[in-house]
Amino acid sequence: MDKREGNVLWFTGLSGAGKTTTAREVYGYMVRLGRGVELLDGDELRARVCKGLGFDREGRMENIRRIGYIASLLSRHGVDVIVSAITPYREMRNYLRTLLPGYVEIYAQCSLAECEKRDVKGLYAKARRQEIGHFTGISDPYEEPERPDLIIDTENRPLAENAGAIIEWLRGRNRL
Ligand code: ADX
Repeated sequence: MDKREGNVLWFTGLSGAGKTTTAREVYGYMVRLGRGVELLDGDELRARVCKGLGFDREGRMENIRRIGYIASLLSRHGVDVIVSAITPYREMRNYLRTLLPGYVEIYAQCSLAECEKRDVKGLYAKARRQEIGHFTGISDPYEEPERPDLIIDTENRPLAENAGAIIEWLRGRNRL
C-alpha cells in the first residue's frame, strides 16, 4: 500500500449491530491522535448524496458505489475514512477491496435475535409486520463476510474493547 494512502475502515453488519457506535468511538480516538479522518455513515448519506436510493439490490449497490467513491477521493489524499453501512452482499465487498487500497473490512458481529431485541429504530418490528420490505436479515439477505480483516463481537464485548482492538490492529500493521 502507498504510504500516503489513508485507511478505509469499513464496518459491515446487520442494522442495529453497533457499526455506527463503534465507528464513532474509533473516529473520536483518531481525531485525538491528530489524524485527518472522516466518518461516512450509511444512514446519513442516504439523506444526502444517496437520497432516493432504495433497498433492492440495485439501490444498495449504487449506495455502496457512491460511498466507495467518496472514500476513494478522501483516502487517496491520505485521509483516513471510517464507513458504517450494512454492505450486505459479498459482491459489494469484493468490489470495495479492489477499489480501495486502504480497505479494512470490519465485521460487526451480532446475532439477528439480539439486533431484533434491541430494535433501536423500531424497523425490525415494521419489517416483521411487512410494513417495510427488503429488510436485511428478515426479507433481504445478509451474506456473512468470509474473510473480514477484523471481527468485533458487538453482542458480548464492550464498546471500548472493540474500539481498542481496531486501534491495536492498525498499530500492529504500522497503519496509525
Ligand atoms: S446498505 O445495505 O445500502 O449498505 P445502509 O447501511 O446504507 O444499507 O442503510 C441501512 C439503514 O437504512 C438501516 O440502518 C436502517 O436505518 C435503514 N433502512 C431502511 N429500510 C431498510 C431496509 N429495508 N433494510 C435495511 N435497512 C433499512
